[in-house]
Amino acid sequence: MARRGVFITLEGPEGSGKSSQARWLVQRLRRAGHRVTLVRDPGSTALGRSLRRALLHTSAELSPLAEALLFIGGRVQLVEERIRPALAKGRVVVCDRFHDSTVAYQGFGGQLDVPWLDRVGRAAIRRVMPDVTVLLDVPTAVGFARLRRSRDRMERKALAFHRRVRAGFLRLAKREPKRFVVIDASQPAAAVRREIEMIVSSEFGVRSSESRRALRIPHSPLRTP
Ligand SMILES: Nc1ncnc2c1ncn2[C@@H]1O[C@H](COP(=O)(O)OP(=O)(O)O)[C@@H](O)[C@H]1O
Ligand SMILES: [Mg+2]
Repeated sequence: MARRGVFITLEGPEGSGKSSQARWLVQRLRRAGHRVTLVRDPGSTALGRSLRRALLHTSAELSPLAEALLFIGGRVQLVEERIRPALAKGRVVVCDRFHDSTVAYQGFGGQLDVPWLDRVGRAAIRRVMPDVTVLLDVPTAVGFARLRRSRDRMERKALAFHRRVRAGFLRLAKREPKRFVVIDASQPAAAVRREIEMIVSSEFGVRSSESRRALRIPHSPLRTP
């Protein structure tokens, strides 16, 4: 199936603003005339919703490897049921967390074999990887201070775990500078929004191999197609 759409993921630690920025980004893109699909990982399919309960809203102790493979399984379903079809129709897909979260949380945080997990995770989704990944980077304490609701199982893990997660995300971004854009998400939400807007607009401005470089130099406002 030919892939024509644009695939954007938002990544980052707890409380970095992924979900609120994703909702805003979708509205913004729709106003600019794009057809947009918003999904979250885990979630957005029947399997994903069950896995979300099993993985996040449980007090059970889970083997880190079992946990990682379940997240990957949920993602395979999400890609095949929602993401790949949407991209094939030329839609923009915005996804709240994706493959990088498994590598950061279960790999770096849970101390599994990172290269192995990265390989298995990518192979499972048959390399349907994002065109752009916005990494909202925030110090662990700042992110947690923003969370008002009760914490899920990941959020209850020790601070040391979450510090490894944050450092892991930054390592991933450094390793793939063409796909990742890192934003300082400790700024006010409006400032983060402005940066996301510039990044995404340059993605729609130039979509050749040139666009990968252009992504580093945001310039034009979001254009209508
Ligand atoms: N830049 C920001 N500054 C202050 N508060 C923020 C910012 N971004 C998001 N928030 C608030 O922090 C909380 C967590 O945001 P959310 O988007 O759910 O983060 P995430 O999905 O990354 O965990 C929400 O109450 C949100 O309104
Ligand atoms: Mg969220």
